[in-house]
Amino acid sequence: MNIVLMGLPGAGKGTQADRIIEAFHIPHISTGDMFRSAVKEGTPLGLEAKSYMDEGQLVPDRVTIGIVRERLGKDDCAEGFMLDGFPRTVPQAEALDVSLKEMGKTLNHVIYIEVEEEELLKRLTGRRICRDCGATYHVAFAPPKQEGVCDRCGGDLYQREDDRKETVAKRLQVNLEQTRALLDYYKDKGNLCRINGQQSIERVTQDILGYLRGSA
Ligand code: AP5
Ligand code: ZN
Repeated sequence: MNIVLMGLPGAGKGTQADRIIEAFHIPHISTGDMFRSAVKEGTPLGLEAKSYMDEGQLVPDRVTIGIVRERLGKDDCAEGFMLDGFPRTVPQAEALDVSLKEMGKTLNHVIYIEVEEEELLKRLTGRRICRDCGATYHVAFAPPKQEGVCDRCGGDLYQREDDRKETVAKRLQVNLEQTRALLDYYKDKGNLCRINGQQSIERVTQDILGYLRGSA
């Protein structure tokens, strides 16, 4: 099954992606995670991406499209994949269509997790991430058992650089316009499913899995 998971920053893409890949045994391809690991490793891609990410801007399409095309060509994507945070612009969506066509594949589902802006601000500024295993928490909505410590692996929790209040507002502004255009693009193609993301994490997972299983 080939899936795209869309949603504004903080909508819960990463949180839900973890659960979806467990249910369907497909790889999770997050462009945000790919850029963050490139930044950590200090590669040329990471150096370029960092300047945009820290400002809350999108990394240029030419860079993003290239890394996704390469990733989709890997063997583990043969039976399906879940893209998280890509495409984020109409040119990225068009490039994805071209790449999939070349590979003889199609996109089965586009899931849009819908959440209001006010809620997104709360989610992003309260988010904490495990330095070791990448698990996501929220200081109020999904707290770890022990403050600052990962339940899964005991690692340290930290706040993402772009989750500072000033950057969060910019990220939302940049993504709003692009997301509107992208929703129109997929609505016209007829494979868009909107999920109410303003429910408990478990409820959102149930809705997504219910939809995917129902239409599999
Ligand atoms: P990326 O890492 O993709 O960030 P994003 O889209 O801003 O999304 P987030 O990871 O912030 O949020 P999420 O939806 O995954 O929410 P989460 O599950 O963590 O991209 C980062 C940057 O990389 C971009 O700004 C850009 O510069 C660049 N980039 C990436 N892709 C690109 C592309 N295609 N083109 C160009 N540039 C690109 O949840 C958020 C918080 O809420 C957590 O604390 C969680 O615990 C909590 N939470 C989740 N669900 C719920 C719920 N139902 N109720 C209560 N709390 C909840
Ligand atoms: Zn951990």
